[in-house]
Amino acid sequence: MQLLSNKLNDVNISATARIHNLLLQKKYLGEKIINLSVGEPDFNTPKNVQEAAHDAISKGKTRYTATDGSIELKEAIIDKFMKENSLSYQKSEIIVCSGGKQVIFNALLATLNKEDEVVVPSPYWVSYPDIVKLCGAKVAFIQTKLENSFKITPRQLEKALNKKTKWLVLNSPSNPTGSVYTKEELTRLAEIIERFPNVNIVSDDIYEHIIYQDLPFYNIVQVNPSLKHRTLLVNGVSKSYAMTGWRIGFGAANSSLVKGMITIQSQSTSNPCSISQCAAVEALKNTNQFIQQNKIIYQTRRDIMINIFSKSKYIEVSNPMGAFYALPSIQKLIGKVSSAGKKIENDSDFVFELLNETGVAVVPGSAFGMKNTFRISYAISDTLLEEACHIIVKFANNLV
Ligand SMILES: Cc1ncc(COP(=O)(O)O)c(C=O)c1O
Repeated sequence: MQLLSNKLNDVNISATARIHNLLLQKKYLGEKIINLSVGEPDFNTPKNVQEAAHDAISKGKTRYTATDGSIELKEAIIDKFMKENSLSYQKSEIIVCSGGKQVIFNALLATLNKEDEVVVPSPYWVSYPDIVKLCGAKVAFIQTKLENSFKITPRQLEKALNKKTKWLVLNSPSNPTGSVYTKEELTRLAEIIERFPNVNIVSDDIYEHIIYQDLPFYNIVQVNPSLKHRTLLVNGVSKSYAMTGWRIGFGAANSSLVKGMITIQSQSTSNPCSISQCAAVEALKNTNQFIQQNKIIYQTRRDIMINIFSKSKYIEVSNPMGAFYALPSIQKLIGKVSSAGKKIENDSDFVFELLNETGVAVVPGSAFGMKNTFRISYAISDTLLEEACHIIVKFANNLV
């Protein structure tokens, strides 16, 4: 009898696992590795947030909280939405989960049926399609282009939405491209969505605070409040506050969706870690300076990367306006041969040869739905980043 359920057909374990295994093997052998494949800040969690966690432990805040999060954290989240996004939510419209990923998982599991479709712009964060598949529904991709900074157009959206569409996923700033939708672009997308009343929106705003050149952040609800009742805002402390391991994400949505999400969470993980919740309250209230400093650091790194790649004849890159990723194209290198005699047939070959020959680790773009690209995460020191980008350019130049 087959042990694993059919739900797992077609669902992938993290696409980065193979790269990671090779990387660990090389590290074990004592080889120098520069790792540009990780999707998390390289900073430590701010000191005041660490202290809030110590304090929580010593004050005995170590017990179950309400499934959907403590009142203190919900109040801090409501204040955040009001202060930063001018959006008003009630406690019944907020859920705290173990990471932004669980917010999305809960919402999709609570709502999707077999016949439903979820529209996902491609390239995409790897988990969106696999969560949809785990929920037994179908994914419909909208393929974007580097020339459009990997953003969907209103016309593409109009073609993709239909009676079966239950959700549209928007992610700005984006993982893996770093693209950011402007207020005007979102306004035009919202006009299309208004014509499809059955469509709900996941607005994944997890990189909200990592945005450059003073470009203001907008989500679809801010530009069109009439979509508020059918939008799930996804956010959390992982990326903005360098707290990936603390596992706190939160969602804001209409209270009936939130109720469904709470039911699912109550039968799976229950409340998120009580100590992490106390730390998240501090992060949301008292870390503005940390965010402002990091923006400048990330922007400098982005500029280092773009400067080096823009001088390459073979690597094309669109200038990321947020998050800490870019998705350069290696289309011009397909068919070439490495100095070790390996033919580069696709982005995976490029990434494996790059790691094998130079010790620089990136992720194949096909894992994110964009073949013949690679994803680079520049959440790494300026010096290492500069060294790695030069190595990548030299590796590309040496392919024949
Ligand atoms: C676009 C996007 N959304 C959501 C998440 C989930 O974040 P968390 O670590 O809070 O689950 C990530 C993490 O990589 C992400 O890149």
